[in-house]
This record gives sequence, C-alpha cells and structure tokens, in this order.
Amino acid sequence: MAYLWIPPTGQVDVWCLSLDDPAVDVNILAGLLSTDEHRRASAFACGHHQRRFVVARAGLRWLLGAYLGRRPSALRFRYGPHGKPELDEVSAPPFSFNLAHAEGLAVYAVFGGREVGVDIERIRPELADAAIATRFFSPLEQRQLAKVDSIHWTEAFFACWTRKEAYLKARGDGLSRPLDSFDVVVDPARPPALLATRPDHWEAARWRLSSFIPAPGFIGTLAVAGVIRNVSCSPLRVTHWSPTDQAPGRLKTPKTTETLCHSLAAFRCEKSPMFSLRPPAYPPARAIFF
Ligand SMILES: CC(C)(COP(=O)(O)OP(=O)(O)OC[C@H]1O[C@@H](n2cnc3c(N)ncnc32)[C@H](O)[C@@H]1OP(=O)(O)O)[C@@H](O)C(=O)NCCC(=O)NCCS
Repeated sequence: MAYLWIPPTGQVDVWCLSLDDPAVDVNILAGLLSTDEHRRASAFACGHHQRRFVVARAGLRWLLGAYLGRRPSALRFRYGPHGKPELDEVSAPPFSFNLAHAEGLAVYAVFGGREVGVDIERIRPELADAAIATRFFSPLEQRQLAKVDSIHWTEAFFACWTRKEAYLKARGDGLSRPLDSFDVVVDPARPPALLATRPDHWEAARWRLSSFIPAPGFIGTLAVAGVIRNVSCSPLRVTHWSPTDQAPGRLKTPKTTETLCHSLAAFRCEKSPMFSLRPPAYPPARAIFF
C-alpha cells in the first residue's frame, strides 16, 4: 500500500490540537466519526466533554487519514485488551500512534516504529501531594521525589506521572500493570528514562522516553520501543473552509467536505476544510523537548 507520509524510523511527530475553539463547527466534525464513536460521544453526560471527545476523535481521524492518504471517515480502529486503539488495516501501517487529552488540549504522537505511548497532564499544584505520590509511584520514585527542591516539586510530580503513564500506554497495559513494577527518572532536570522493570528486568532497556511541554502549564511524555532519533511538535488547527481557501488552480471544487479532505491529503495537507497542518520539519526544532 502507498502511504502519503511516513515518518522516518525513530521519528516521532507530535501534534497538538485545542479542543475548545468556540468557532469550531462540531457537527461537521461529527460527520467523520463512526457509529461506535457516536455512541461513546453520547455517553458523556456533559455537552462540553462530548464536544471535546468529538473534536479529538475527528482530529485523530483527519491526521491519520493525512498520513495514509485515506478519507478520515473510512478509517477503522480496533482496540487492544485494555483499550489501546490501533488502525484496523489489512497490512500494518509503517508507523504507530497514540493520543492523550487533558482538559482542552489533545496531543497525538505518530512514531516511525512499532510502539508509542503519549501522556499529557496540566500541571495542577492542588493535585500533587505526597499522599498521591505514595499511592501511585514506586518506592524508588518516591525517594527521588523527596530529594527534589520545593520549587520544582510539582513539576517533578507531573513529570513522573506522565512518564509512567506514557510507558503504560505504549505497552497498551493501562492499569493492568502494577504502578510499582517499574521506575522512571523523576527529576525533570534529568533526561527522562525508564530505570527498571520488574520482574522482567531486560524490558527497561527496550524503551526510550522524551518529555515535552505541549502548551504553557502542561507537561507531556512520549515512550517508544526503540530509539528516538528526532521529535517534531506542530500545531494541528481546526480551520473553516470556504471556497476561497482552495489553492488556486490546484484543486477541483469538491463535492463534499470529505472529498476535499481527501484531495487535500493528496496535496500533503497544505490546506483542509477542517484541519490544517504543515508537514513536520525533519530535522525538527527540539527546543521544547527534554
Ligand atoms: C486509559 C488510560 C490508558 C489513560 O487514561 P487517561 O489518562 O484518562 O487518558 P489519556 O488522555 O492519557 O488517554 C486517553 C486515550 O488513550 C487511548 N487509550 C485508551 N486505552 C489505552 C491503552 N490501554 N493504552 C494506550 N492508549 C490507550 C485512547 O485513544 C484514549 O482516547 P479516546 O478514548 O478519547 O480515544 C489508562 O492508563 C488509565 O486509566 N490511567 C489512569 C490514570 C492513572 O491512574 N495513572 C496513574 C499515575 S501514573
């Protein structure tokens, strides 16, 4: 199968999407979702959360459609035993993906490799306390946290949280894997890493972590099986298509927003009715990754 856009081996493309843009027409985006996604959306009691779910899933579909050169609504997902989504394709695409959302922000990671997990959190001082650390972090992580100075303590708490969660998400384990069965580097000033795994000690060497700041006040971590050679971080924007948005002379008038979306994917996503992105730069700006 021909793909439009394949991240090189070891490349992680990170895309950030705001879920709370009031100008977004959520009804148009909902048209990209499958029946089961509509069912999940309608299970949210609060309209605000429902809307965020629709925007996040539409963003996921649109983004993967752009990589694959496929209509977003034609994509099918299957789910691992603990809920990790994968593309349900005849032959596995040459990349993996994962997503996370926190409040009004969604982050998507597309990795030129087999397994990727991403987690983001808003840094909330009111949530970070020693009792929660004792409950969720391993003894070694708690000892590391105890050595962090008070100014950096909350940041270290969320660095640890996202590093643990990203690893669990890369494996697809969710909370079926005990949180004290592995240790991560806690101090945000030190390079993130998976330090140890139990009982399978060799497992730790298989993984690389990279933490990043997806937006002010948030922290995120990527976990991949293999080597991270480069990471790019780019915004994904919901835009408002009108006929004047077409690149002159390059596109025929589309019959539906979806055919336009498809044509635009073929034009390497220069413009789109609902989302816009620029192809990630290789090599990328690395400034916000640590
Ligand atoms: C479901 C879980 C994977 C993440 O939950 P979360 O932090 O609430 O949500 P996130 O925003 O990080 O990720 C949600 C997305 O991950 C994906 N996902 C779901 N299950 C997944 C799994 N087992 N593995 C990887 N990705 C998964 C889905 O795409 C989901 O988004 P969608 O349902 O809207 O499509 C799971 O790890 C969990 O319940 N964690 C609880 C958090 C916790 O207690 N952490 C302890 C501190 S380290």
